[in-house]
Amino acid sequence: MNDVEYRMIENCEIEIPPPFCLVIFGASGDLTGRKIIPSLYKLDRDKLLSDQFLVLGVARTEMADADFRDQMKDSLKEALPENFVEKTWKEFSQKLHYMSIDYDDPRSYTALKGKIISIKEKYEDIRNCVFYLAITPKVYETIISNLGSSGLASEDEGFTHIVVEKPIGWDLESARRLNTILRGSFQEKQVFRMDHYLAKETVQNILMFRFANSIFEPLWNRRYIDHVQITVTETLGVGHRGGYYDKAGVIRDMFQNHIFQLLALTAMEPPALFEAERVRDEKVKVFRSVRPFPLDRLKDVLVLGQYGKGRIAEKEVVGYREEPKIPGDSVTPTYAALKVFIDNWRWNGVPFYLRSGKRLKKKKSEISIHYRHVPHLMFAHAMAEDIEPNTLVLRIQPDEGIDLNFQAKTPGSRVCLNPVAMDFAYQRIFSLTAYERILLDCMRGDQMLFVRDDGVEQAWSLLTPVLEKLEKDKDVKNFPKYEAGSDGPEEAELLPKKDGREWRPL
Ligand code: BG6
Repeated sequence: MNDVEYRMIENCEIEIPPPFCLVIFGASGDLTGRKIIPSLYKLDRDKLLSDQFLVLGVARTEMADADFRDQMKDSLKEALPENFVEKTWKEFSQKLHYMSIDYDDPRSYTALKGKIISIKEKYEDIRNCVFYLAITPKVYETIISNLGSSGLASEDEGFTHIVVEKPIGWDLESARRLNTILRGSFQEKQVFRMDHYLAKETVQNILMFRFANSIFEPLWNRRYIDHVQITVTETLGVGHRGGYYDKAGVIRDMFQNHIFQLLALTAMEPPALFEAERVRDEKVKVFRSVRPFPLDRLKDVLVLGQYGKGRIAEKEVVGYREEPKIPGDSVTPTYAALKVFIDNWRWNGVPFYLRSGKRLKKKKSEISIHYRHVPHLMFAHAMAEDIEPNTLVLRIQPDEGIDLNFQAKTPGSRVCLNPVAMDFAYQRIFSLTAYERILLDCMRGDQMLFVRDDGVEQAWSLLTPVLEKLEKDKDVKNFPKYEAGSDGPEEAELLPKKDGREWRPL
């Protein structure tokens, strides 16, 4: 059987998904207008979707199809001003439909079923359905259960998938509960738990780089690597998401998902096949090997901070506690640095230093591998200082690329070494955005870039005790701890420094 269709765009071969109906829960919300509809519009414009697809937005608000289309048009113009073309929009917009729904009422789901059947009538080939939960997690459980009991989750004709945005749970217990509810209505192969970091090209490249090059993998272990740093920093503050963020904080918002995913990809063993289940098995094994955090001496491995006022790009910005919807005495951390050990054969004794924060000096996501010093420095007598060990830096964003830093002789007669960099920069070539990638993969049924139930639970099982301990020991006096536009709290410097190491500059 080979009826899969591909399309080449510049250097990139894209598999076209089969015809589908996409049902978006939370269609009047921010995510639908800002990410989902603009991504679909671009995919459709670039002919990366089948001609046969339709979108049904559902939400509580009463609205006609025409109003929904108008609302999406405004959002699209705002999200992709350079890409908006009236004629393309007109054709695309005919595929958008809307229905208002009461999420709690089972009768709404019977009506939804009827609506899907009626709008599908024009498209004889549509047999597949994707439900996208672009809505507050508070209603996830209700929607998922109702989709199951109304029969909408079944796969009689084609596939039925469900996309669940983060947060997947709030702690271990709620993540387990959500997974149990998902399992009550869907099979795991139907569930697409999304982490948009996994859809970034440069994140996908981590595995390609590690396992498609024979020169790096032999050196990717405790014998040669001194430590690893994973940095995900932002210049943005919480913006309009204060209500959510103040309950979440940086550990739930960035560590449990994105940063732990980067950790897993960096530390995992090579799977026998580049195939979703095998890759996800290896990632879970990493989480199982992470040494539990010492709750009685958390300060040895964790530094938290919250941004105060300061300057970003020459502009004054307010402190976290002055942001909209943030209580004036909030102790929610917006920065964390965490030291992690992975107790397995490959990584025994190698610290992984992870850090992430908002309102820092620079937006930067990178993974840096810091190699050990050379075992014997034969130039020691002729050199004033120690030479810097090699580093390999995977630059996730911005300025995507890879740096290998090594020592080279400076011209002249004396022994004179200087660090130099071999730099690979991704060219600005065609690439899909994270949401475009995720939509396509989910419609093709490829779960590689989505997180499996056990992966989510393992990550929560490591961080939930830490969150509970922090919640118990809330220390209001110590906040805020860093100025907006800085490198983060000063105490964070000490985390690697105590071990004789230092952070790479931001
Ligand atoms: C989101 C977080 O998941 O990731 C945000 O909720 C954060 O707080 C964002 O700003 C960062 O994503 P990116 O792709 O801009 O690095």
